[in-house]
Amino acid sequence: MPWMQLHLIAAPAQVPMVESLFESLGALSVTCGDAADVPVLEPPPGETPLWGHTRVTALFDRGRDVGVLEAALAVRLPAALFATLSRETLPDQAWERAWMDDFRPMRFGRRLWVCPAGKRPDAQDALVVDLDPGLAFGTGTHPTTALCLRWLDGADLKGLRVLDFGCGSGILAIAAARLGAASVVAVDHDPQALEATRENAAKNAVAERIRVLASQAPLTAPFDLVLANILALTLVELAPVICPLAAPQGHLLLSGILSAQAEEVAAAYRGEFHFDPPQLEQDWVLLHAVRRPH
Ligand SMILES: C[S@@+](CC[C@H](N)C(=O)[O-])C[C@H]1O[C@@H](n2cnc3c(N)ncnc32)[C@H](O)[C@@H]1O
Repeated sequence: MPWMQLHLIAAPAQVPMVESLFESLGALSVTCGDAADVPVLEPPPGETPLWGHTRVTALFDRGRDVGVLEAALAVRLPAALFATLSRETLPDQAWERAWMDDFRPMRFGRRLWVCPAGKRPDAQDALVVDLDPGLAFGTGTHPTTALCLRWLDGADLKGLRVLDFGCGSGILAIAAARLGAASVVAVDHDPQALEATRENAAKNAVAERIRVLASQAPLTAPFDLVLANILALTLVELAPVICPLAAPQGHLLLSGILSAQAEEVAAAYRGEFHFDPPQLEQDWVLLHAVRRPH
């Protein structure tokens, strides 16, 4: 039996009313998206900007009568807003897994590959990370993860102690272990990320070299390489926590940063670290730095 989605194109001032109307009609989820391809970048703290034309989408249970829902909307919405209504049926499937159908082996740098479980690249010297992110972030398809993976592929990680702060699916932690790191600590504040990292580490036969910890757990510094692919504002807030975790002359790799935010993030760490020029992919930046010797 298919699921059903209703869409309305609303002005920002109308969005809260449309959201609560959909919720009052029993929508299973209500999401907002861009109706006109105008990106909203990471907002300042406390702000939740919306698009000029916001597409509000409500997902309804399979058994709902669409005629009844549309009649209720017609009565309660201004005519011009009701005129934007469109409907869509969605085939029944495991939505959290559906994207995996398009997940193909991807190469990062010279020899590092990320593959969905069971798939293999056609390359003799491939170093494979077998990955099922579950509900956690980190498949390699996002530029921020890709930038980190390419850097890792080009680095000599043999024997290093690595910290992956914000491990998500565990993709960077596992890549570091596969590339020769002696030990990796993977930290996240999301329990689903911790679970995905544990499962992926086991699947890649590197579980004995990866310790997976909740972010409030005490960490035994120093680390020779600290990875943190988190959003810029969080990286700035975490600077006092992250800075002392790197060994003198240890490496720091920061991502999740839009190019316009690179200077603000670097400034939060510059007292302790010397930065290389940023690396850019699309509008995202990777910052590499080395901790100053004490
Ligand atoms: C963009 S994802 C990166 C995942 C993966 N490392 C990658 O490179 O694809 C950021 C991760 O950081 C985690 N995170 C965000 N803020 C955090 C915090 N303050 N402490 C620990 N983890 C955090 C999120 O839960 C998420 O899993």
